[in-house]
Amino acid sequence: MTQGIKKAIFPAAGLGTRFLPATKASPKEMLPIVDKPMIQYGVEEALACHLNEIVIITGKHKRSIEDHFDHSFELEAKLKKSGKKKLIEEINRLNKINIAYIRQGYALGLGHAISRARPFIKDEPFAVILSDDIIPPEESLLKDMVRLYKELKCPILALEKVPMSEIHRYGVIDGVKEEDGVYRVNNLVEKPDAEHAPSDLAILGRYILTPDIFDVLDKSKPGRGGEIQLTDAIGALLKSRRVYGYLFKGKRYDAGDKFGYLKATIDFALKNSEVSEPFSQYLFEVTKKLRQSAASS
Ligand code: G1P
Repeated sequence: MTQGIKKAIFPAAGLGTRFLPATKASPKEMLPIVDKPMIQYGVEEALACHLNEIVIITGKHKRSIEDHFDHSFELEAKLKKSGKKKLIEEINRLNKINIAYIRQGYALGLGHAISRARPFIKDEPFAVILSDDIIPPEESLLKDMVRLYKELKCPILALEKVPMSEIHRYGVIDGVKEEDGVYRVNNLVEKPDAEHAPSDLAILGRYILTPDIFDVLDKSKPGRGGEIQLTDAIGALLKSRRVYGYLFKGKRYDAGDKFGYLKATIDFALKNSEVSEPFSQYLFEVTKKLRQSAASS
């Protein structure tokens, strides 16, 4: 019997060094994109795919993630007093999500973070969501991957074609196209430089994995950056099973990077009913000034 996918792992124990000093004492995952913390977008994406059993791998300074998805009596009482019904509903929606937390203890890499979730995942297939890759809710990437898993019953990695100048920031696959958007993976390399990259097909922060990855992770040695890399473990898994890549052609924001974070903030603000009008007017004025100063220089 093939099990459907119900579980999702959110690694969130990283140090967030690219956002220092903002992340010195607070988690990167809690940085807001307009009015929601980054990790909430990923959690909502998982729930939209019926992945209702969520585990977040946390570490030091990450307690606010737990508080965010928990009941706040004081806040609710205050909102009730001031009659803010809509906000109460929004806040309570988050309290009902079924989330487990596992502390990573040592930040030994993405592969190590995933291996911590073994007691929660047991012998089921599962998704991995890297919350700094933000996919807007209108995109169907994770849904498509879950559907493809039902058909292939093999691990599936989300892929995106990226410019070679950016390839060193990603895990990269060597693969053969089997059908439109579906690649059979032959090899993987974590963050290669452009000359050594096997292709321009980069791994995005969405994976569907099978529980046999845990034995491989337990035996994994540190790779790139001295960390236990998920990419290397998936590479080792290729000896015993097929792995597929699913090419994503939609919109994605790398919000783990300042520029990507700002792009996500602008695009989500332009879609936010509360601020879209005055914000687009403001952007219009800013760009007008930029154009004028570019023309006069
Ligand atoms: C991680 C993975 C990398 C993948 C990337 C996607 O890297 O190690 O293979 O391409 O996520 O966002 P990180 O961005 O955590 O350094």
